[in-house]
Amino acid sequence: MSIASAYPGGTRPPRAVVRLRSVSDQTTAGSGYADAAEDPRAPYDPMPHGQPQVGVGPWQGEWPQDPRLDPELLVNGDRRNVVDRYRYWTMEAIVADLDTRRHGFHVAIENWQHDFNIGTIVRTANAFLAAEVHIVGNRRWNRRGAMVTDRYQHLRHHATVPDLADYLHERGVRLLGIDNLPGSLHLETMAVPREVCFLFGQEGPGLSEQARDACDGTFSIAQFGSTRSINASSAAAIAMHAWVREHADLGSADAWRG
Ligand SMILES: C[S@@+](CC[C@H](N)C(=O)[O-])C[C@H]1O[C@@H](n2cnc3c(N)ncnc32)[C@H](O)[C@@H]1O
Repeated sequence: MSIASAYPGGTRPPRAVVRLRSVSDQTTAGSGYADAAEDPRAPYDPMPHGQPQVGVGPWQGEWPQDPRLDPELLVNGDRRNVVDRYRYWTMEAIVADLDTRRHGFHVAIENWQHDFNIGTIVRTANAFLAAEVHIVGNRRWNRRGAMVTDRYQHLRHHATVPDLADYLHERGVRLLGIDNLPGSLHLETMAVPREVCFLFGQEGPGLSEQARDACDGTFSIAQFGSTRSINASSAAAIAMHAWVREHADLGSADAWRG
């Protein structure tokens, strides 16, 4: 199914008009609206000034026979936050398609204190098409920041970092710690391996002692300001994008640019 055929009539739905308020109207902390009940968006909506609704309405025209399409979405419309090529596809069909072209990098994060960054790391891993996301330590993590992207991603739990290292090494994947530790090399100048797993530490303590010992090397992101560190999720995005810059096929039709 082409993108054009995903839109009945071949055209995109018209952009919705978003009502803007002046700063003085915005009295409810966090929501940006005087009355939070008026705010049609969830407070964690990633696109507060974008379209209030994305996607397409019910399918119109001849009923498609493509087994990848979800009959329920065809009937009710598809308002999921997925790229246009996947409109009306079942989740299983999307995951199967992603699996045919996943990238060589993995990401991992230590989760001893229910780190709040994991959700956003999962979302970025989905956007850059990571092979897998590994959670080390506690199984439970806050899924809010993932914005449902975890359903399209292979998530794997490991009790300890040595367990993670064993899993990766058996598959020929190097484990690189990303942290601004003494002795870390520059991420900016490293030759990023194609088969690699970037491991991130937690907000407070950073990479644990055990993690440092298990890594095949540690790399830091250069900083120039006064803060000791950046947020783990931001560090993860930078590291993943370093891989993309070196190895991804930017000329392919799969490179989504909105
Ligand atoms: C907020 S930092 C914590 C600790 C940090 N080692 C410190 O000295 O304060 C949490 C995680 O974000 C990542 N991180 C933050 N800043 C980084 C940087 N400049 N270079 C590489 N990783 C960084 C690392 O994975 C780190 O474990």
